[in-house]
Amino acid sequence: MSDSLHIIDHPLVQHKLTIMRKKETSSAKFRTLLHEISMLLAYEVTRDLPMTSEEIETPLTPMKAPALAGRKVVLVSILRAGNGILDGMLQLIPSARVGHIGLYRDPKTLQAVEYYFKLPQHIEDRDMIVVDPMLATGHSAIAAVSRLKEVKPRSIKFVCLLAAPEGISSFSEAHPDTPIYTAAVDQKLNDHGYIIPGLGDAGDRIYGTQLVD
Ligand code: URA
Repeated sequence: MSDSLHIIDHPLVQHKLTIMRKKETSSAKFRTLLHEISMLLAYEVTRDLPMTSEEIETPLTPMKAPALAGRKVVLVSILRAGNGILDGMLQLIPSARVGHIGLYRDPKTLQAVEYYFKLPQHIEDRDMIVVDPMLATGHSAIAAVSRLKEVKPRSIKFVCLLAAPEGISSFSEAHPDTPIYTAAVDQKLNDHGYIIPGLGDAGDRIYGTQLVD
């Protein structure tokens, strides 16, 4: 396994993830838990953000106090399921800038085709956190990070909720310089590219698009 794989094994993350995996967990509950876990993932992935200090005054005295340095972080959501992680991360980092990238797989060529790409300005001075809940085959994460590297952010990290060993290998081979943060590494992919045991289709579970009323 890659040196740059970070597994966030905090008890709160693991407990919430277990509830999300259960097939009986409703979309409403799933979204809430994803929101909560995403805040915890954001806390871990931002641990090494550059710091500076600023002169402030408390009600009692002046002091030099620590503060984040440089331009705001940019969070990039891989549509559509990435938006589930994005929402939670934005609650913890409300001043982050946001980008979106949309890709679909051409059924004939099997290549990732971009259908949406929107980023904030001054990317070259910003640290970028790319989010997508499931690192399965790795195809869309690899394509998204390749595209995002073209705009030359200062750094890129990839954050997901669940990863398959196959996705980690492919991603790390394609982007050895991009660390992966995940809450768990599952057993394998099935023949349809779903993570086993996994939690099903993350987008469907977030947005309730597979539910029969
Ligand atoms: N995407 C998902 O939403 N779930 C999987 O298990 C794999 C890819």
